[in-house]
Amino acid sequence: MTQSGAAPVTLITGGGSGIGAATTRRLLEQGHRVAITGRRKERLDEFAAEVGAGEALLTIAGDAADHEAVQAAVDTTVATFGRLSGVVANAGISTHDSLVDGDPAEWQDMLLTNVLGPAVLIRAALPALRDTQGRIVLVGSTAGVKNTPGNMYSVTKWAVSALAENARVLVTGSGVGVTLVAPGRVDTSFWDSRPDGVPDGPIMTPENIATSIVFALSQPPGIEINSLVIRPSGQLF
Ligand SMILES: NC(=O)c1ccc[n+]([C@@H]2O[C@H](COP(=O)([O-])OP(=O)(O)OC[C@H]3O[C@@H](n4cnc5c(N)ncnc54)[C@H](OP(=O)(O)O)[C@@H]3O)[C@@H](O)[C@H]2O)c1
Repeated sequence: MTQSGAAPVTLITGGGSGIGAATTRRLLEQGHRVAITGRRKERLDEFAAEVGAGEALLTIAGDAADHEAVQAAVDTTVATFGRLSGVVANAGISTHDSLVDGDPAEWQDMLLTNVLGPAVLIRAALPALRDTQGRIVLVGSTAGVKNTPGNMYSVTKWAVSALAENARVLVTGSGVGVTLVAPGRVDTSFWDSRPDGVPDGPIMTPENIATSIVFALSQPPGIEINSLVIRPSGQLF
């Protein structure tokens, strides 16, 4: 494993489980240095112990929707590793309910995490990413590409799709690349809060999505993959 000062440095929100954790493992295998955030410090500590990457993995407990915590995470990453090559706005939650019977207080948390979170990450990271001509990956969803009836989660992910294009036209030409990665169903703890658990039907692994995120992060200078929509075969919407 490379741990030299030139090794790329990636910050991933919600990097302690699911898609974020799979991406972290993949990047560490490739010699990157990685910083991960999450609200639960114990979860991050457990994951770091499992991975055993030593100083190549930095864990930072904090809320992805709190702009001061996100700025502090970016600053700590740059102070620790000396640079920032990429960020992955991955932290996200779903209330798994509908406009008819959902709890607006829970929607508020979901909106802040899923929409404000990626926006404040871009804001905090952009100066350091301009220095490295780095990469921004936003984890959206197929729910941000297709509508389903009364789905507030889908509304937040449509906002992520819009943010990706909005950020792309902001930074294009600066060397910074922006990619929307929009997964279909993935088998992660995302579904734990759903009363019926993981839905029936075709489903992907977190590693399937990590492959695309790493692909987006690894493009050569001058090339950016702007959008990747990934479904398990047989997923209709
Ligand atoms: N699983 C799917 O079928 C699916 C499909 C399409 C898109 N996605 C998207 O993929 C992304 C990753 O989800 P996943 O499936 O990998 O689920 P996951 O295993 O539950 O991972 C989500 C991670 O985000 C963290 N997180 C949640 N809210 C946070 C906040 N406010 N601040 C900081 N960290 C926060 C969680 O840790 P803490 O709880 O400790 O904070 C957790 O580590 C999400 O954006 C999700 O919307 C998932």
